[in-house]
Amino acid sequence: MRPGKTIVTIMKNKLTLILLTIWVLPAFAQKDYTKEVEALLSKMTLEEKIGQMTLYTSGWDVTGPTLNENYKADIRAGRCGNIFNAHTAKYNRDLQRIAVEETRLKIPLLFGYDVIHGHKTIYPIPLAEACSWDLELIEKSARLSAREAAASGLHWTFNPMVDIARDPRWGRIAEGTGEDPFLGALMGAAKVRGYQGTDLSDPYTLMACVKHFAAYGAAQAGRDYHTVDMSERELRQTYLPPYKAAIDAGAASVMTSFNEYDGVPATGSKFLMDKVLRQEWGFDGIIVTDYGSVAEMIPHGFAVNGKHAGELAANATVDMDMQSGVFQNNLKQSVEEGKVSMKTIDDAVRRVLLKKFELGLFDDPYRYSNEEREKQEVFSDEMMQHARDAGRKSIVLLKNEPFNGQKLLPLAKTTRNIALIGPLTEAPEDILGSWHASGDASKAVTLLSALQQAVPGAKIFHAQGCSTESDDRSGFEAALNAARQADVVIMAVGENYRQNGEAASRSDIGLPGAQQALLEEIYKLGKPVVVVVMAGRPLTIGWMDENIPAIVNAWHLGTMAGPAITDVLFGDYNPSGKLVITFPRNVGQIPIFYSMKNTGRPFNANDKYTSKYLDVANTPLYPFGYGLSYTSFKYSDLKVSKPVIGFGEKLQVEVTVKNTGDRAGEEVVQLYTRDLVGSVTRPVKELKGFQKINLKPGESEKVTFTLTSDDLRFYTQAMEYKAEPGDFKVFVGGSSADVLEVGFELK
Ligand code: NOJ
Repeated sequence: MRPGKTIVTIMKNKLTLILLTIWVLPAFAQKDYTKEVEALLSKMTLEEKIGQMTLYTSGWDVTGPTLNENYKADIRAGRCGNIFNAHTAKYNRDLQRIAVEETRLKIPLLFGYDVIHGHKTIYPIPLAEACSWDLELIEKSARLSAREAAASGLHWTFNPMVDIARDPRWGRIAEGTGEDPFLGALMGAAKVRGYQGTDLSDPYTLMACVKHFAAYGAAQAGRDYHTVDMSERELRQTYLPPYKAAIDAGAASVMTSFNEYDGVPATGSKFLMDKVLRQEWGFDGIIVTDYGSVAEMIPHGFAVNGKHAGELAANATVDMDMQSGVFQNNLKQSVEEGKVSMKTIDDAVRRVLLKKFELGLFDDPYRYSNEEREKQEVFSDEMMQHARDAGRKSIVLLKNEPFNGQKLLPLAKTTRNIALIGPLTEAPEDILGSWHASGDASKAVTLLSALQQAVPGAKIFHAQGCSTESDDRSGFEAALNAARQADVVIMAVGENYRQNGEAASRSDIGLPGAQQALLEEIYKLGKPVVVVVMAGRPLTIGWMDENIPAIVNAWHLGTMAGPAITDVLFGDYNPSGKLVITFPRNVGQIPIFYSMKNTGRPFNANDKYTSKYLDVANTPLYPFGYGLSYTSFKYSDLKVSKPVIGFGEKLQVEVTVKNTGDRAGEEVVQLYTRDLVGSVTRPVKELKGFQKINLKPGESEKVTFTLTSDDLRFYTQAMEYKAEPGDFKVFVGGSSADVLEVGFELK
C-alpha cells in the first residue's frame, strides 16, 4: 500500500467523525504473472504478437451480429487477439472457442464493450448521475453494470470517461461528470473501484478503461473531434486530474483520444502517452487507441501513410490498435525496417498478456460467459431498484415557484386531471440516453406508464404534441385539448438520445424542433405547468425560466426514468441533485464555468470598460452546484479554526446548516477556496470539498472540513505543483453562487 492522501476530513456534529480518505493505492495486491507472460512471449511469432496488439469490432449491430464474419478468420489466424462489440454469454463463448481451440498458442480473447452507464439495465447518463454528488451511489452503478456485463461474457468496459467538459455544445458532455476537476477526480476513481473491485480475476467485475486521454472534452467550439489547444498549465491543472485519479485507483487501461493536443494527435503523442502517462504517473497497463484513431493521424496531417501512423502510435507506447487495422497491416514491416524496435513490440504484448492473465482468462477462458448467471443478473430487481434510486438522486430541481399562492411542486396525489404533454412522455429509447449500447428499450419505464402507476385515480390526458426533431405542429391541437381538460399540465421536453453523445454537437442548445413553440402555446392557456426537461446537456431555457413556475431537470435517467421522475413530482423523494455543469443563458456565453478568472477589469455595472457583454449578463442561468429542494436550508456561523496556518498544518472550516423547511431533505454542502494572489492568476472559486447531509425539519448540523496547504496546490509560474503563501478565501454554501465566506492566511 502506498501512502494515502487525505483530501477532506469532515466532522459532523454529534459524535461521528468521518475521514474521507482517498487512498492512492494500486487498488489490490495482484499475483505476479511475469514468468508466465515471458514464457508465452518467447513462443510467439512477430505476427502473433501484432495480433495481440489488434482489437476489432465483431460487427455486432443493435440487434445482433452482422454478416461480416472476417474477424473470425483473423482470430483463427492469430491476427486478432481482442474483440469488442460482441456480447451475450453464448456468442462470446463461441468466439472464445475459436481462439482457445483453433489458434496455435490458444491465447484467449479479451472482450471489450462500451458499458457506459449500465449494460442491459441502464442507469442515468454519467452527467446526470454526477449531479447526485454521491460517490457511493456512483460506485454502485459501476459495480452493478460490471456484474451484469460480465455475466454476458465481457471482460472490459471502455469506461470511465473522465473528460472535463465546459462546453455544452459538445454532445459528449453527457458521458462525463461535468466541468470540475476535483469532482471529476473523485467520481472517476469511484467508477474504477466499482468496475474493477479488488480482483481483476473476479468474474463479477470488468477491467476499466479511462478515456479519452487527453483533454478530448476541450474540443474547440464544442465540435466533436475538433482541435484542442491549451497551455500545459491548464492541461495539468484542469484536465489531467481525473485521469490521474482513475489511474491511481487502479484502472488497468487507458484509451487515447481523437483530438490533437499542442499540434500532436493524442494517439501519436509521446508527450501524453510516454512522458505523462507512463513515466510521470507510472502507468503500466494497456493503452488502447480510440476507434480508428491510428489511421486518423493521416488526415490530421501528422502521418504520411498507415505505416507511418502505426510507427508514431507504437513508439508513443500505444499497445493496442482499435479497429484501424494499421498495426495488423504495417507493424511487421516497421519492425523489419527498424522503425519500431522489437522491445517496443514486446513491451506492448507483455502489457496485454499480463492483463489477460490477471483477468484469469488463462485459468478459464469461459469464466465470464455464464448463461445461467446472465439470466439471473440481467434486469434483476436489485438492478432495477438501483436504477430508480440513482435516477431520482440525479434529478435537479431548477425552479419551484408558487402558482396561485402555492408552490407547484410536489404535486398532490389527489390531483384528478393531469395533462401529460410532449415528445419525451412516451419515448422509451430516448430516456435511456446516448451510449446505452445494449440497453433494452422494451424494459424502459416511461413517464406515461410511471404516472399511470403513481396516481391510478387520476385521469391522464396524454398527447405528444410534436417530435424532438421536426417543426411539424400538426399535433399541437391535440396537446392543447389535453391541457384544457387538466388541473395541472406536466410537459416532458428536451432531446432525444441521438441529439447528444458522440458526433452530436449542437450549435443551438435550445429545445429542438417545435417544442419551444408548443410550450409557449400551452403556457398561454394559463394552466399550472410543470416542465420536465430530459436532455444530455444543459439547454438554454431562459424563456422557460422566466415563465414556467416549476422546472425539473431530469436528464436521461435510464431504464427507470419514469418512476424516478414521478417519485420527485409527487414528493415521494425530495430532490437533492446539484448541477455539475453551468447552464448558460445563451450560446454566446460559452465557455462559462464557475471557476473562471477575475480579469483585470472585473464586472462593474456602472463602468462600461469592464469585462461584460452588452446584451447578456455575465452570470449563468443556473450556476454550478445549484439545485433546489422541497425544503430550505440556512447556512450560518462559517468559521476557520485559526486565521493563519503554516504549510502542512490543518485548518478546520466549520459551518452550521439548518433545515428551515417542513420536510426532511438532503443537502450538498460545498466548500470552495480562492487564492487571492499567485505567481499565476487563480480562479475566483475552486471546489475543494463537499458533504451530502440529511436533515429533518428544524434540525441543524455542524459540518467541518479540514484543509491543508496540499489542497491549495497549483502549477506555479515555474510549473511546480505547490501552494504559495498568501491570503485565501474560503466559501461554503449550497451552490457556487450562494456562499458564506471567511478568510485565512497561509504562511
Ligand atoms: C469511439 C468512442 O470515442 C469511444 O469512446 C468508444 O469507446 C469507442 N468508439 C468504441 O466504441
